[in-house]
Amino acid sequence: MSYRTHYIEELDETLLGKEVTLAGWIQNYRKLGAIEFFDLRDRTGMIQLSAKDSSLVPDARNEYVVSVKGVLRKKEVANPKLSKGAYEIDIEEMTVLNEAEATPFPVKDDTEALEDTRLKYRYLDLRRPSLVSYLSIKAKIMQITHEYFDSHHFLEVETPILNLATPEGARDYLVPSRLHHGSFYALPQSPQLFKQLLMIGGIDRYYQIARCFRDEDLRSDRQPEFTQIDVETSFMSQEEILTLAEGLFAEYFRKILGKELSLPLRRIPYWEAMDTYGSDKPDTRYALHLIDLSFLSSLSISLFEGKSFIRALFLPKEIGTLSRKKLDALSLEAKKLRVAPLLSLKVENAQLEGSFTKFLDEASKKKILSLIKGEGTLLFGASASRRDADFALGAVRTALSKEFGLIKEGTYDLLWVTDFPMFTRGEDGSITAEHHPFTRPRDEDLKYLKEEPEKVLAYAYDIIFNGYEAGGGTLRIYDRKMQAEIFALLGLSEEEANAKFGWFLDAFRYGAPPHGGFALGLDRLAMIFGGTDNIRDVIAFPKNLQAVDPMSNAPGKASEEALDTLGISIKKEGEMK
Ligand code: AMO
Repeated sequence: MSYRTHYIEELDETLLGKEVTLAGWIQNYRKLGAIEFFDLRDRTGMIQLSAKDSSLVPDARNEYVVSVKGVLRKKEVANPKLSKGAYEIDIEEMTVLNEAEATPFPVKDDTEALEDTRLKYRYLDLRRPSLVSYLSIKAKIMQITHEYFDSHHFLEVETPILNLATPEGARDYLVPSRLHHGSFYALPQSPQLFKQLLMIGGIDRYYQIARCFRDEDLRSDRQPEFTQIDVETSFMSQEEILTLAEGLFAEYFRKILGKELSLPLRRIPYWEAMDTYGSDKPDTRYALHLIDLSFLSSLSISLFEGKSFIRALFLPKEIGTLSRKKLDALSLEAKKLRVAPLLSLKVENAQLEGSFTKFLDEASKKKILSLIKGEGTLLFGASASRRDADFALGAVRTALSKEFGLIKEGTYDLLWVTDFPMFTRGEDGSITAEHHPFTRPRDEDLKYLKEEPEKVLAYAYDIIFNGYEAGGGTLRIYDRKMQAEIFALLGLSEEEANAKFGWFLDAFRYGAPPHGGFALGLDRLAMIFGGTDNIRDVIAFPKNLQAVDPMSNAPGKASEEALDTLGISIKKEGEMK
């Protein structure tokens, strides 16, 4: 007999009374008198099997692999817990294909097993319907992506995995070379330089679903190994590139959620996003906005000395009130982001209440009250840096959204943040590139390049999806003179730049077209469309937060022999700088 004629999800009215053969795992079994019941699970769903006479069926326990032939019939009372709970199979023949030992945790969606246990036995974890659905969404995103770019004249091109280091800002994973003693390849943090070289090579519309590697601290939305939907185009303006990316998102929405996305998406310049939401990846599904109280810095209040950026958040009492403990926790959050103290005032009967009011004159009180509606709590803090003041109150905004459940489940929020600053100035006064050093400054800001580089904004854009940075891109510099100027600003001499990226910069001598592109985080998209906040859920075999695969225990030690072949000796912990 064949193992399978149908997947469980294919069973429907048209097959009632017909014989089908299914294959999968036993989810559950129970006996009622002489009748024996099994729940059968395959990748697509679950259905109940029943045998009127238990002598007809072999002994099959949880997670046994079986193939079963039987007749589909309708159940009198549907079981809502099974995807095909409206039907049942009358078993005619059942074969156990393999037995299974008791599993380390029950294979079911509402498992209480610790994540590391689930990752250690990931092949069992993958049997859970929710994980299958995350992987299916990811596969769907890839399929839509291929269809979209294929129909827009894009060529899918692979770029190398063994490279020279790319300047994306994170730490590289290095691979020692056997043939070139003491030399190392770097795994790509992204295909950035190669996709630009493809443009110079005349492949003017490129895309790739590309594996990227970054040795950085992990979080719930970061993995050391992840996948980008990577795109580069020549001869397109920023606006045309954003429209191209939006078209792709519209397809995702249509084909994954069955929703029409209204286009164009909102575009918020970086500083407006920062000053309004306290974030460069704002979640605008809830309406709390930052309020600018910087005018208070002109009063001589010692707490605000040297701090000219004062930001506030107003929590209307209809949303909630904060206990002392919650307030302290928020203060700690703001302090971590270099804004302390976080102050609070009560707003009642159109009056400001609280010890801080003694520092305020009538005009300031009036002005503050004019910026708020209703009664509630005003939280505020100051900093010498606009970014720190924004970020700190932004973190408070996020914490409040969690505390008071301000985000409605199942809602989607998609927007662009544009016009990122080109550079950031470090505490030591040095200038670093906000994106990578090949990002093109906006034409209208070139005048600031020499004297006030912090003022220069770039053709740089991020697409923000439910408060996550789902992707980002830039237009690139294609003019060698401008590139040299940017390197000089970043403190890189021509020799240093040539030593680092000479192989790349050389290509710009031979007719580089104007170009730009973007990359979307495939795993993050799958997370958001799948409705999970854990990136590991959408990766079949992820690493844990310590960058370890608990199943194989990778990374592992290399054998003496392998190290010898590579000419590598390992320093002891104490010998490391
Ligand atoms: P960027 O570094 O912003 O841009 O990366 C693009 C997108 O990739 C995703 N991403 C990650 N996802 C999971 N784990 C990680 N560790 C991780 N790091 C990044 C994010 C992010 O928005 N070369 C440029 C793109 C360009 O300019 O064309 C780049 O890599 O969703």
